[in-house]
Formats: sequence, structure tokens, C-alpha cells
Amino acid sequence: MKRIIKIILLVMFVSACRAVEDGSRQQQNLIVDQDVFVQKRHKMVKEQIERRGIRDKLVLEAMRKVPRHLFVPDYLKDQAYIDSPLPIGNNQTISQPYIVAFMTEALKLKGDEKVLEIGTGSGYQAAVLAEIAKNVYSIEIIPFLGKQADEILKTLQYKNIHVEIGDGYRGLPDQAPFDAIMVTAAPEHIPQPLVDQLKIGGRMIVPVGDLYQELILITKQPDGSIKKKSVLPVRFVPMTGEAQDKK
Ligand SMILES: C[S@@+](CC[C@H](N)C(=O)[O-])C[C@H]1O[C@@H](n2cnc3c(N)ncnc32)[C@H](O)[C@@H]1O
Repeated sequence: MKRIIKIILLVMFVSACRAVEDGSRQQQNLIVDQDVFVQKRHKMVKEQIERRGIRDKLVLEAMRKVPRHLFVPDYLKDQAYIDSPLPIGNNQTISQPYIVAFMTEALKLKGDEKVLEIGTGSGYQAAVLAEIAKNVYSIEIIPFLGKQADEILKTLQYKNIHVEIGDGYRGLPDQAPFDAIMVTAAPEHIPQPLVDQLKIGGRMIVPVGDLYQELILITKQPDGSIKKKSVLPVRFVPMTGEAQDKK
């Protein structure tokens, strides 16, 4: 009997050691990955983002910091810093780095804002926003993607990002109003609930359209009306859910 107990204890000890080893190996991989990819990331910022006119220092710093390769599928890690969107599964994409920077700069964040993002996808854009803003709420309609993004964001210790699974068309009334809203899937019209959840003076950036889409920058005026400006032709995946019912 004593021998059996000894064997059980030994097996438990060995598995505990393995778990610790696996954990630190995973941690090490993250760190090694960052060392390997840091140069690519700096090159991406210089050649794809600064060269195209993005000047906001906070945005450039965030783009230099967030390890984009950890937000793409393993087989695409080597291509994570190319000048293009990439597939992330479920027919969805992580946006092109320049578009991430352009949309972030358009929100003119300074650091103490509460931001809402619609379309978490990989979680990369949420991480870039969270490097600058105080709190980021991000809604994803595909549960698998939302959960996966939440996991990587937690591994990377982003405590100021709150991922919600659901249809972002109606925003998050419980957390409203927001200083800034970013929509990363294209509805055919501007969702009114999101406009309603924007603070006076707040900014929202949203791709609108079907085959032809424009990035629209909205600013909420002191009287509650909105000012709209088309800032860039773009190509985003469509916003699904209620946005499509309301066509
Ligand atoms: C272009 S991807 C977003 C890229 C993402 N911001 C990133 O950094 O990877 C658009 C995402 O919006 C999601 N989406 C589409 N319609 C949505 C809706 N009504 N509510 C919330 N998310 C939605 C899609 O599932 C997809 O993950």
C-alpha cells in the first residue's frame, strides 16, 4: 500500500514539474518571438505607416509595441508584418497595418478615453487602442474569434480591454457614453445606436458601404448633431447581424 502511495505521489510530482516546464516554455516562446519580430515591426512602422503620413507619436509607438505576429494564425506568423490584411479564420481578416494606424490616428486619442470597438476579430486593433486609451470595450459577433482574442489579450496582460461576444450594432448601452468608437466591419448605413452612444465632442470612425465602401469620420457636435467626413476608400468585411436585417 505504502509503495502504491509513493508511486502515485511520484507521478503527481513529475506531472506538476512538466506543467511548470510547459508554462515557462510557452512564456519563453512569446519572448523569443518578440525578439525575432521586433525588427520587422519597426520596419513596418517606418515603411508602411510613417512614410504614408501617420504622425501621431502615440499611434506610432503603439504600432511599434504590439506583437502583431501573435494575433495571426501560426502558419502566417512570418507574414504578419507585410503591407496587407491577412485571414484569421471564419472568413474574417486582421486589417492591414496602415489601416489600423490610420483609423487609430483619426480618433485623436490622448490617453484617458473610454473607447468602443465593433469587430474584435484577432484582437490586434483592440491592443493598439489599449496602448493609448484608458479603457477599450470590444464586441465580436463570432464567439470563437472573440474567445480566442480574449485569451491572447489576457496572455499579453491587457487589463484595460473588455471583450464582449455579441452583435455590436447596438453598441454597449451599459458602458456608454464613449469618447471614441471604431467600427471594423462595414455596415451599409451608420448604426444610429452607436451615434447615440458617442459623447459630445467624441469621434467615430466607420467603414460604410457594400461593394464600394468609404471610411467615414463622424464628430458629435455640441448640439448633439453629427458632422460626417469621408476620409478614405476602403474594403472591409461586412457587418453582420442586425445591420443586415435593416438593409
Ligand atoms: C476586419 S475584421 C476586424 C479586424 C479586427 N479589428 C482585428 O484587429 O483583427 C471584422 C470583424 O468584425 C466582426 N463583426 C462583423 N459584424 C459584427 C457585428 N455586428 N458585431 C460585432 N462584430 C462583428 C467579424 O466577425 C470580424 O471578426
